[in-house]
Amino acid sequence: MTYSLQGKTISLGVTGSIACYKAVDLASKLMQLNADVDVLMTPSALRFLTPLTFTAITHRPVITSMFDPQSELSINHVAAAERADLVAVVPATANSLAKIAHGRADDPVSATILATRAPVLVAPAMDANMFESPATQANVELLRQRSIYVAGPAEGRMASGLVGRGRLLEPAELVGHIRILLGRAGDLAGRKIVVSAGGTREAIDPVRVIANHSSGKMGYAIAEAARDRGAQAVIVSAPTALPDPTGVKVARINSALEMGHALDRECADADAVIMAAAVADWRVAQIAEQKVKKTGADTWTIDLVKNPDLIAGIHADRLVKVGFAAESEDLIDNARAKIQSKGLHMIVANDITAEDAGFAVDDNRVIILDREGSIERLPLMSKYDVGVEILDRVIPLLGSLA
Ligand SMILES: Cc1cc2nc3c(=O)[nH]c(=O)nc-3n(C[C@H](O)[C@H](O)[C@H](O)COP(=O)(O)O)c2cc1C
Repeated sequence: MTYSLQGKTISLGVTGSIACYKAVDLASKLMQLNADVDVLMTPSALRFLTPLTFTAITHRPVITSMFDPQSELSINHVAAAERADLVAVVPATANSLAKIAHGRADDPVSATILATRAPVLVAPAMDANMFESPATQANVELLRQRSIYVAGPAEGRMASGLVGRGRLLEPAELVGHIRILLGRAGDLAGRKIVVSAGGTREAIDPVRVIANHSSGKMGYAIAEAARDRGAQAVIVSAPTALPDPTGVKVARINSALEMGHALDRECADADAVIMAAAVADWRVAQIAEQKVKKTGADTWTIDLVKNPDLIAGIHADRLVKVGFAAESEDLIDNARAKIQSKGLHMIVANDITAEDAGFAVDDNRVIILDREGSIERLPLMSKYDVGVEILDRVIPLLGSLA
């Protein structure tokens, strides 16, 4: 397990949009993260889905009315509002946005929002013309001014067949937004954390590259862990197959030199840089302008020149610098030497010969060494949890450099 919503109660308000079915998937995803999920439905939502669908997923009764004697809300009409750590209205119809913006409370969803002290997220879903209408736009603006988090909508094809802005975000993205909102006041709030990720590619000619096996998973997991604690997280990413994490800026580059330029730009106002990328030590001396043809020769020699040491080259006074050392021998000695030579505060060393950890897999087993000489061997854990451990050690340094 990695990120967890254990101990958090999410009130999920479902309103009468054709996109209701995505709320079922969202409820399931929140349950998989161990959240307690209270579903509340408007009368219109009941025309699209039955409460049974949600009950089967959340293992709780669904709240559909304030006046039904069977409903908890008939005893305490603000019960769901009080126990929520976050209220998410997914999907949010134009009608419900208007009601929330104007403080109406005549159904379980709008009444709960009016009564809660928890952060509120709304995810609009409607026909593009309904969303762009001056009334809806004014309502959305009003909600934003009142610190309600508006997630989406996205551009795309809608149920009407029209293409435009009004599509409900996908459940996985909505989970990302919920994580951002829950982490907003976290211990990295107001901090900018830059993470490099993936394996750089050094061009040989227009079609060939020198690459490496880094998947980018480690760096992306660190950035997500930073985002979940309130940081402004940026990934300087070499090519990977990974999707952009919600709420994380991803600056895409190919070569080590390009990564260097992007890091210089992003680190100028950053608090910490964590170099999880596998940066090529060498690049091709002369990149061919045309595809190199196969000749009669049996061998082909390519001249390489050294790439600059990117992390050693980043100069910023208050920047905490964390390096990675992927080694196949003399792990500790090599890692220690890198702390010195690169001016790092900390280095995360991993043995790339271990079968259950390292490249491309979801877990890692690392040793964290710092400037003061401490060596901590961490057990095998998810890359997200490695990110949490690294950030736990970065945070005290941020204080001392501020
Ligand atoms: C088939 C169908 C699909 C609808 N889809 C949407 C929608 O995606 N977004 C929206 O704002 N309204 C949609 N509506 C209109 C709402 O259901 C209607 O405005 C209703 O009063 C919303 O009530 P509620 O906000 O209390 O759930 C749809 C109506 C129908 C019949």
